[in-house]
This record gives sequence, structure tokens and C-alpha cells, in this order.
Amino acid sequence: MIKVNIEGVKEFVDEREIREIDTKKALVELESLYENGWVDLPESYNTELSQEIKGVAGKIISESKALVVLGIGGSYLGARAAIEYIKSPNYNALPKQTPDIYFAGNNASGEYLSQIIELIGDRDFSVNVVSKSGSTIETAIALRFFKSMLESRYGAGGLKERLYVTTDKGSPLSKMAVREGYRCLEMPAEVGGRYSVLTVVGLLPCAAAGIDIDEMMAGAKEERSAGIDNACLYASTRQVLYRMGKKIEMLACFEPSFRSTGEWWKQLFGESEGKEGKGIFPAFADYTADLHSLGQYIQQGERTLMETFVSFDQPRANPVIPGGSLHDDKIGPIAGMDMHTINRSASEAVKKAHIEGGVPVIELLAPSLSAASFGAMTYFFKRSCAISALVSGVNPFGQPGVEAYKKNLFAILGL
Ligand code: PA5
Repeated sequence: MIKVNIEGVKEFVDEREIREIDTKKALVELESLYENGWVDLPESYNTELSQEIKGVAGKIISESKALVVLGIGGSYLGARAAIEYIKSPNYNALPKQTPDIYFAGNNASGEYLSQIIELIGDRDFSVNVVSKSGSTIETAIALRFFKSMLESRYGAGGLKERLYVTTDKGSPLSKMAVREGYRCLEMPAEVGGRYSVLTVVGLLPCAAAGIDIDEMMAGAKEERSAGIDNACLYASTRQVLYRMGKKIEMLACFEPSFRSTGEWWKQLFGESEGKEGKGIFPAFADYTADLHSLGQYIQQGERTLMETFVSFDQPRANPVIPGGSLHDDKIGPIAGMDMHTINRSASEAVKKAHIEGGVPVIELLAPSLSAASFGAMTYFFKRSCAISALVSGVNPFGQPGVEAYKKNLFAILGL
């Protein structure tokens, strides 16, 4: 379960204001919205779906040394976050039995595409194209590159065996899959892109990376059963801080494995809340690294910031600082201390400094960087995000503002 600690906001706001936020009304509204299908995903996940995804992942693992996941926004951020959180930010560089995972179709850079193609080299590879709408231009362009690469390497038959399509039923991509004979994994219609990490969108790349997807879904299920109180507390606290002028939320974590989860979180909250001239601007910082870049601003810049720290009870590894007399670094007395203690001390030090500098700090605590914790963490954030958006009076689903750049791009390209 994700625990929420609001001690670090108490000198900025009256706790009663937080308790007075009407989250019950938000929850009733959420029930009536079509795209609330993610709420029940941990319950509806079953052996049949698990076996289907593991079957496809097993085929990818046995046939390929690399898997290219094509998608943008909610169609790739969750899978990338999960792999870094549960395995490692250096997953591709680790010795392993599962394929390297590359993400493409998430920008319009030819240089980036060429680099991925070069990285695959002459190794066997498969492709999972992910697009709910089936019509996103960045993903469509990347698909053309990788489809022709598959066809020229493996022929028309091999292309059919190695291209996996994840999309909505009836989308242009699903029609192509039916027409050309690719394996198509359907997304649940009532789950929006940025809420889809716990569907086949996130689960297939995770399973191909050797992640225990059953454990991930069990973590989400446990978080769901633990009740809504913690998610409501996080949502209400953010909204009270927003109303008093804290317009930017800096999500910060002291584990680099969380960095891509921070990117996923930015999309979730940014696209869900940033509407109708409202919304907390979501930013992410990787501590302690970013204390040496953003730290100055956070401590003494404009006082429009709130922070949310994410920490973990149990590190995956906990090495001890080596001793020895050769060092002239003034840290001799902490030789023999474990790194988890150092990291926690850093978090305490930063929290104290930032609160003193006028930045309220919310704390979220998870047990470890495991598959179950990732399931719980993402489920917790989706719940909090939907409630927070509804409390502020906006619909958390849909992203009408994203259309503006797409319309211009289509016009510029004459499409
Ligand atoms: O949250 C969303 O729905 C969006 O951000 C989408 O994930 C993103 O625009 C990609 O869309 P699609 O999956 O249709 O290619």
C-alpha cells in the first residue's frame, strides 16, 4: 500500500481545509464517466488474459534479441517506467535472457530512429506497435520504417510473425492487422491512453522484459482493496496547496530507477488536469542529482512550488561505504555506513531545507521497487489524479488541447 504523509504541509495549511475537500462528490462523478475502465482492471485481470500476454511475450523472447515498442504518450511511458522501476534504468545493458527493449515512435527525429535501427544491428528483433487511436503520426511514421525493416530481413511471412499490434478494436491499425494478418491485442475501449499501463499496453512489453505481470496486477489489486483514503488525501492536499498559490508540483525521488515513472506521472497529471485554464503544472526531479541543477530555484526561487517526495522502505541493494585511509574527503566517519541510510538522510535534509525555504512537502512511501509496488504506485496515482482533476472541476479524461499541434502539423505537411 502507498502511504501518504502530510506532516510537511502542516505549517502551510490548516489540515481541516484538506479534510473539507469534497472527494465523495468527485468519486460519484468518476463513476459516471465512460473512460473510468481502469478502475476495475486489477479485478478483471484473469488467468486467460495473463496467459495470452505471457504466450505472446514468450514467443518474442524465444525469437528476438531486441523488441522495439512503437508508441507515444500513454502508449509507451508506462512500459518504459515499469522496466526501469522493476528491473533497472540500465536494463538493456544488463546480462539477461530477455530481449533488449527499445522505444521509438515517440518523437519526430530521424536521428533517433536511425540510432535505434543501428542499435538493433543484425540481431533478431520483433516490433510491438501501440496506438489506441491507431492514427498517431509519430507512431505511424516509425511503423513504416520498422515494418519495411522486418519485411526486408524476414520476408512477408516473417513480418507477420514478428509484428504485434496493440490498439482499439476497429481502429485503422486494427483494420490493417486484420487485413495483413498480424497478431492484434485489443485495448479495453473504456481505458484512456495514460491510464492504460495495467492493460496489454504496458503488460506485454513488461512480460517480454521478464517482469512478473501477475505480481504487478496483484499489487494494483491490493492497492485497490486498501481503499481510497490515501489517494483522496494526496488529491485533496494538492488541491488545497494549489488554491493557496502553489501552482507547480515537483515530484521528486531519490532513486534513479523512478525517473521514467516521473515522466509517466507528468503525462498522467498534465493531460488530466491541465484544462480550462486550470491545473497544477507537473514537474519531476531526480534527487540528489537535480539538487545540483534545480535545487537553487527550489530553495530560493519563486514561491509557487509544492513538492511530493517518493521513497522506498527497502532498497534492492544496499552497499556499505568502503573504509581506508587514502581518502582526503572528510567523510571518514561515515565509512561502514550503508547507502540506504545515506539516501534517507539526504531525503530528510532536503525536506527540512525545502520546508524552511517555503516549499510544502507531501511524502509518499512504498515498500520497495518491486513489480507489486509498481502496480500499486501507478494505481494509486491514477486514482489520485482522477479525484484531483474532478475536485478542481475538470474532466480527467480526454486531451483536447493536444489536437492543436497535430492540426497544424497535418496542415504544414499538406495531409
Ligand atoms: O493519454 C492519452 O490518451 C494520450 O496521451 C495518448 O496516449 C497519446 O496521444 C498516444 O495516442 P495513441 O495511443 O492513440 O497513439
